[in-house]
Amino acid sequence: MSNQPETNIAISFLNIHNIITRGLKVSLESVQGVIKRGIQGEKSREGFFNFIRALTSVMNAHHLTEDEIVFPYFRDKLPEAPFDSLTSWHHEMGLRLDEINLALDKCADKAQLETELRNIENPLARLNEDWPFHIQPETDEFINLADALIPVEEQLRLVRLFAEHGLKNAVPHYLTVPFMLYNLPEDDRKVFSERMPAEVVQNLVPIVWKAKWESMKPYLLE
Ligand SMILES: [Fe+2]
Ligand SMILES: [Fe+2]
Repeated sequence: MSNQPETNIAISFLNIHNIITRGLKVSLESVQGVIKRGIQGEKSREGFFNFIRALTSVMNAHHLTEDEIVFPYFRDKLPEAPFDSLTSWHHEMGLRLDEINLALDKCADKAQLETELRNIENPLARLNEDWPFHIQPETDEFINLADALIPVEEQLRLVRLFAEHGLKNAVPHYLTVPFMLYNLPEDDRKVFSERMPAEVVQNLVPIVWKAKWESMKPYLLE
């Protein structure tokens, strides 16, 4: 066994960024498939909408955590890092996420469905395109510098703090927690779930919440 912590800052950001990267890609491909084939042919109508809803909530929560506690923490240590521009990017992406949620709300009306699917596809396509260019400077300008700047014990405290903050805003938990866990491959999921309360991972997700999230399974990893 190495003495390296299993959940340092770099790993925890890599995981949440990977969750969102996959969530965006799968959502976009699914919505394009539904536009082409119609919702009747979709693997799970409920799961399709739940998956996209969970994505928008997890993304918003991640941006809030960065703006409210991550960037303020790093600002003193890395005064040259582009935190202001990253925050305005969050604001821009937040507007796209609002558009998606508005369209999701209107999808219940069958007459509007085709139009609203396009209103989901367009902002999703932009987010999917922009996302790699947003996380690259985050990775280069503060995430990958964390190991050199912050002692191991302090990193563990921060990882927990960031995770709690993110979880608080990512609602409903019965969708967002399984969304986060099962957009990660198994090995990464194990590491990611270590910072969650055991009750959530061992009881709430697999048993208590199962009926509420399992519609998303066709879109999630095993
Ligand atoms: Fe960000
Ligand atoms: Fe980020």
